[in-house]
Amino acid sequence: MHAIAEATPNIAVIKYWGMRDSALVLPLNSSISVTMDFSLRTRTRVEFGDFKKDSAFLNGKELGGDGHTRVLKIINQVRKLACAGEKCRVQSENFFPTKAGFASSASGFAALAVAADAALALHLGPDALSRLARVSSGSACRSVLGGFVQWNAGEQKNGLDSYAVQLAPASHWEGLLNIAAVVDAGEKAVGSAEGMQLTVQTSALFKKRLAELPERTARMEKAIKKRDAHSFFAIAMEESASMHACMADTKPPLRYMNNVSREIVRAVESLNKTHGENVCGYTFDAGPNAHVYTTKAHAAEVKNALSKVAGVQKLFTCGVGEGPRVLEAPAK
Ligand code: DP6
Repeated sequence: MHAIAEATPNIAVIKYWGMRDSALVLPLNSSISVTMDFSLRTRTRVEFGDFKKDSAFLNGKELGGDGHTRVLKIINQVRKLACAGEKCRVQSENFFPTKAGFASSASGFAALAVAADAALALHLGPDALSRLARVSSGSACRSVLGGFVQWNAGEQKNGLDSYAVQLAPASHWEGLLNIAAVVDAGEKAVGSAEGMQLTVQTSALFKKRLAELPERTARMEKAIKKRDAHSFFAIAMEESASMHACMADTKPPLRYMNNVSREIVRAVESLNKTHGENVCGYTFDAGPNAHVYTTKAHAAEVKNALSKVAGVQKLFTCGVGEGPRVLEAPAK
């Protein structure tokens, strides 16, 4: 009984930063993301069978500790749903730098949820798959869907209403591109889960952010629906700045962006100023790498500007992705 699935990362334009329940991974606010195409992806093979123990490998290396625990959160849920007792072997491969602030946990746990569901022929719907992935990595619940995705925070204590839905499919806005600039491919100093809880506990600015978010989220939804590039870029930048301000306001401060990241911000601002409108917009997650959204018409000049920033190691160009795909599944 085995299946293979691939999933891609998603990059949020309205960020998830702060949990109301860390065991169930329930967020304090709804978030919106764009799923990446298959140029960056995780491929995961899940097999249930006569193994001595459950094991999980990432890029050929066996996972222990937290990584193993997070994998088992998904595996145990599907085993329970399928009333299956077999041990499992998970083999995952990332076709991009792991833990580079490129949300490899999102594509990884989304691929795992989809492959585990396929291996046991559970055929869960998108809502249930999203909830399944969420418990191992919050952002992964958005990667089970393609296109433009909203993770509704929900209100219930059991998390049943906290899952992602598609706002629009990838085909809605094909010309939108994410030019990702690798600044540092190393691992982050403070993980997202730990960092966001520190922010919730210690930042006064975070309360203001939470109060502002419903209005900003509604504006972002509207910009996506209307394919309004100028507003989409403006809101993405406003939102990234808001999250990073709360990170800086955390005690002790969380500093994920570095001098190269700040040079990228300047390069984007200067390009937009030259055009007299926003032709691109940056967003940064819990790391120094940049995701610069732009449209096909301006991709060449954005790439040119980013490649001139000293310290940018590599540029990846990604379109909007269709969501996970199952490559192999047991015959029906
Ligand atoms: C800043 O849910 O990806 O990217 O799985 O522990 O890495 P880990 O956390 P994750 O946190 C995401 C935080 C963020 C914002 C976002 O993607 O919405």
